[in-house]
Amino acid sequence: PANVGILALEFYSPSKFVDQAELEQFDGVSAGKYTIGLGQTKMAVCDDREDINSISLTVVQNLVEKHSISYKDIGFLEVGTESIIDKSKSVKTVLMSLFEESGNHDVEGIDTKNACYGGTASVFHAVNWIESSSWDGRLALIVAADIASYAEGPARPTGGAGAVAILIGPNAPVVLDQGVRSTHMNHLWDFYKPELASEYPTVDGHFSNTCYVRSVDACYSLFTKKFSKRYSPNPEQLIKVQDIDYAVFHAPNCKLVQKAFGRLAYNDMLQDPENEIYASVKEYAKFGHSEESYYDKALERAMMQFTKSEYQKKVLPSIYASTNVGNMYTASVWACLSSLLSSTPDEDIVNKRIGVFSYGSGSAASFFSLKVIAPIQKLRDTLQIQSRLEQRVKVTPEVFAGLLKLREETALLKDYNPVGDISTLVKGTYYLQRIDEKFRRTYGRA
Ligand code: ACO
Repeated sequence: PANVGILALEFYSPSKFVDQAELEQFDGVSAGKYTIGLGQTKMAVCDDREDINSISLTVVQNLVEKHSISYKDIGFLEVGTESIIDKSKSVKTVLMSLFEESGNHDVEGIDTKNACYGGTASVFHAVNWIESSSWDGRLALIVAADIASYAEGPARPTGGAGAVAILIGPNAPVVLDQGVRSTHMNHLWDFYKPELASEYPTVDGHFSNTCYVRSVDACYSLFTKKFSKRYSPNPEQLIKVQDIDYAVFHAPNCKLVQKAFGRLAYNDMLQDPENEIYASVKEYAKFGHSEESYYDKALERAMMQFTKSEYQKKVLPSIYASTNVGNMYTASVWACLSSLLSSTPDEDIVNKRIGVFSYGSGSAASFFSLKVIAPIQKLRDTLQIQSRLEQRVKVTPEVFAGLLKLREETALLKDYNPVGDISTLVKGTYYLQRIDEKFRRTYGRA
C-alpha cells in the first residue's frame, strides 16, 4: 500500500478547566510561574464521571460519527495509555462494545504502555500492520488517551486530560516518512507509577526535564542522519531545523517545548559550528553534549532566543491545545499535531514536512516525520479545537482541588455510584454510570 498515514484525527478534552493564573494565586507561588515560567494558560480537569474507558469511548465514537466510518472497516485498534484502572482487562476490549452492533470482532491490537509514549508506539504498530503481510485491506484506529494528575506540589500545575483518536490507512493526506523513525530508549527513574492504587506518579521533575532533552538530542541526531540519507540530494549534508517546516513535540509544559526546539538548533550548530548563521551562539558550542550543556541556563536562553522567530512560525500553532489543556501524557504529542493541522490553512501545510518528537519517561522516545501531501480540509473542519476548547466551563482552584480529591478517594472503589454532574458534559460524551460490586463499570452517553 502507498502513502500510509493519517486519514483523520479526533480530539477530546473534558469540559471543565482551571485558570493557571488563578491557580498561581491559590497555590501561593509568584505570579507568572505557571503562565510564563511553564507556558500554561488553562488546565483541564474531570470529576468521577470520566475515566480512561469513557474518554476513549468518546473520542472513538465521535471520530466514527464525524467521518461516517463503519466499524466493519476497522481491522486494527490499539490504545496507548498510562491511565491504568485494570491490570488485566485492556481499554481496547471496552472499546469493542462500540463494534458489537456491526458484528465485527476481527480487530487486532490491545493496549500499549510506557508513560507518554504508548500512543506513538501504537501508531507505529498500526503503520507496521498496514505495511505487513498480515494486512487485510482495512483501516487501523489508534487511541492515545490519559487523565494526568499529580499530588499537591510543584508538579500539580502540569496535569491535564485528553484523548486523540487517529485513523490510519493507505492513500492518506498526512504520510509517515519511511525509514526515518529514530528511537532512544533506556532505563531511568524520572517518572513512574509504582503505587497501583493511586493515579499520581512518583516524579523527579527536574530530572525528567533533563531526560526529555537528552532524548531530544539522541533521537534528533539519528533522525537527521537517516532523513538526509534517504531524502536529501546530498546525504553528507545533514538536514537542519531550517529544513523542517513544522515541529511537534510531546508537551509536558509548553516552556519545555520551546527549550526542546532551541535544542534542535543547538544540535545543528554542533555539526557545523563555523557556519556564520551561528555567529551569535557559537560561544556555546564549547559545551558540546557534556553534562553541563543540560544545565547551563545561558545556553538554554541563547538557543531559545536564536530560534525565537522560527519557533513562532513552526511550533507555536501546535501548542494551542497543550497550553489550554495541560499535559495529556500519551495524547499530548498527537494533540499538538491536531492543533497544528486544525489551525493551518491548506496553502501553508500542503507539501510541508512536520518533525515529531515523542517522549515517555522511563524512558522511550522517537523522532520521526510526516509529510502533508494533499489538502486536509475535512480533517481540519472536524477538529475545531479552538472553538471547542473555548466553550468549556471554568472552575475555581478550590473546586479544582475538590475534584482531584474526589477522584483520589473514589477512583478504584467497587459498588460505587459516581456523583459528578452529568449536565456539564458536552453532548456525545461518555460517562461512568456505576462501578458494581464486582468492579464492573458501565457507561452512558450524554
Ligand atoms: N514568572 C516567570 N517565570 C517564573 C516565575 C515567575 N514569577 N517563577 C518561576 N518561573 C520560572 C522558573 O524560572 C522556571 O523556568 P526555567 O526552567 O526556564 O528557568 C519555571 O518557571 C518553573 O519553575 P521551577 O522553580 O523550575 O518549578 P518547579 O521546580 O516548582 O516545578 C516542574 C517545575 C519540575 C516542571 C514540575 O512542574 C514537575 O515536576 N512537573 C511534572 C514533571 C514533568 O512534566 N516532566 C516533563 C517530562 S516527563 C512527562 O512528560 C511527565
